[in-house]
Amino acid sequence: MSSDEVDENSNLEQLRDILINKSGDVKLSSRFRALFLLKSIGSEFEKDKVRANTAIRYIVECFKDNSELLKHEVAYVLGQTRNLDAAPLLRQVLADKNQQCMVRHEAAEALGALADIESLKMLQDYFENDPELEIRQTCELAIERIKWENSTASKTEILQESLYSSIDPAPPLAITQDEDKNESEKIAKLTRVLNDQEAALFERYRAMFRLRDIGTDEACLALASGFNDPSALFKHEIAYVFGQLCNPVTVPSLIKVLQDKSQAGMVRHEAAEALGSIATDEVLPILKSFLNDEEDVVRESAVVALDMYEYENSNEMEYATV
Ligand SMILES: [Fe+2]
Ligand SMILES: [Fe+2]
Repeated sequence: MSSDEVDENSNLEQLRDILINKSGDVKLSSRFRALFLLKSIGSEFEKDKVRANTAIRYIVECFKDNSELLKHEVAYVLGQTRNLDAAPLLRQVLADKNQQCMVRHEAAEALGALADIESLKMLQDYFENDPELEIRQTCELAIERIKWENSTASKTEILQESLYSSIDPAPPLAITQDEDKNESEKIAKLTRVLNDQEAALFERYRAMFRLRDIGTDEACLALASGFNDPSALFKHEIAYVFGQLCNPVTVPSLIKVLQDKSQAGMVRHEAAEALGSIATDEVLPILKSFLNDEEDVVRESAVVALDMYEYENSNEMEYATV
């Protein structure tokens, strides 16, 4: 085991040192692994609050880093911990205009994931006034998610059970009694909501997550129509969902987005990561061709995706020889 490898037995300080790259030569993929281990400790606040909050504090140290990719992931995982003690720290990141847009976006989204009522006022302010469209749209979603989470609707709506453990920017649209029994009709209706420029963004996201949870090839192809949307935020979420679905039918649409340099970095990054999760044979040479992309988040996503792929395969081989 080399010095920058970590596992469940590493202590909190070892994990922090890897995450913040204390030695200066830690691979990005190892830093990501340390982050995920710290995240699961940060989530266990009901078991051991002191240890959980120490993990949160160590994770937050990473916001001093330069890597937009790593920091946006840091903000994302903080939102997934359900640990409300992370909320004030995330508010600082949203307010910090020196942080890159993708990092601030993920901080705002994380406040929504935490359903932090105390952040509503701030989110409203940034929804109305932030110069970046992606931030305004994220705040709009986060506000709606917090309101929904604290509404009676969230207690009474019947939702399809999700295969995914992520806390998403919006819940799936509820199952209604009068909904189409015919699967294609149902998907067509959801696709209309998904792509309806007049509908509220939160509703459109709800359609997106319902289509994800349906998860058939037909639903995946319907989701791919979302790549025609003008919003970078919306498109990056479609790519994110494809990374969860891991359905090879999405590969052509993801490759198209990744190769299209007119797409925002956040969209291309998410497409690269999704392709990394799908990792069919055709995907690997494509990811390799982006190892030198001029966009930092795209290049780093390709590096991390390929590292993770290699790591998983080498581990499988190790297990196979035991
Ligand atoms: Fe995001
Ligand atoms: Fe991302």
